[in-house]
Amino acid sequence: MALRLIQLSDIHFGFEDPAALEAATAYVRETPFDLLAITGDITQLGADPEFAAAAAWLSTLPGPRLATPGNHDTPWAGLAERLTAAWARYDRSISPLVERHFTAPGLKVRSINSARGWQVRLNWSKGHVSRGQAAHAADALASAPHERKVVVVHHPLMEIPGGPMTGRVRGGVHAAERLTLAGADLILSGHVHTPFVQALPFGDHRTFAVGAGTLSRRLRGEPPGFNVIDIRGDDLIVSAMAWDGTRLQLAHAWEVKLRPLAAIGAGA
Ligand SMILES: [Fe+2]
Repeated sequence: MALRLIQLSDIHFGFEDPAALEAATAYVRETPFDLLAITGDITQLGADPEFAAAAAWLSTLPGPRLATPGNHDTPWAGLAERLTAAWARYDRSISPLVERHFTAPGLKVRSINSARGWQVRLNWSKGHVSRGQAAHAADALASAPHERKVVVVHHPLMEIPGGPMTGRVRGGVHAAERLTLAGADLILSGHVHTPFVQALPFGDHRTFAVGAGTLSRRLRGEPPGFNVIDIRGDDLIVSAMAWDGTRLQLAHAWEVKLRPLAAIGAGA
């Protein structure tokens, strides 16, 4: 079975890179895919005009589309709203245009919201995955023994060696292990604005964290870009496309072996 996912992330409407976003949008329109996954930070400040621009853009894209919010998608200037209704704007503007979870023949996808309106720590931009969120996603994936299993989350659940910044996800290591043992093949994330593929250090080491770059001007050592994720049988090919100022180029490519489908559910 062949599956293709396109992963866009960290567009930061309000501070997007217009040329890079236009190129990525054209790519999405021209390229057949099974799912378009957007891993959060759709806006820069969680402002209404940014959500309106994001919604207008989303509504022009082919589907199926799935998204999860990032830490920038709650109103940065509205403390009361962050405390009481952190995702109201996202839910009004974005949620009607995207799936939260997705199932198709051979594919099961669950999203987890790792962002918070506020937290009991100084830096509210870092991530949190509760035990309940991890269990809920793991249980849903474990019930799909014959499908490729994908988790979509904004913050990388574990720190990326050599990465340009941290996610410091509370509960992230627990969630990563729980999802690995549930047979997750891929855990897609954004946040760090650089692409990567990394095997998680649990079970059979065949669950892969896949990070996408940004389509904003908030660059962290990598040009703006996005991921094309191909699954062909047990082969995973992740192509990180980058906008060089004039055209899209293949910037990085990873090829790894996924867990054989027959072994899914074995847990190790
Ligand atoms: Fe971001």
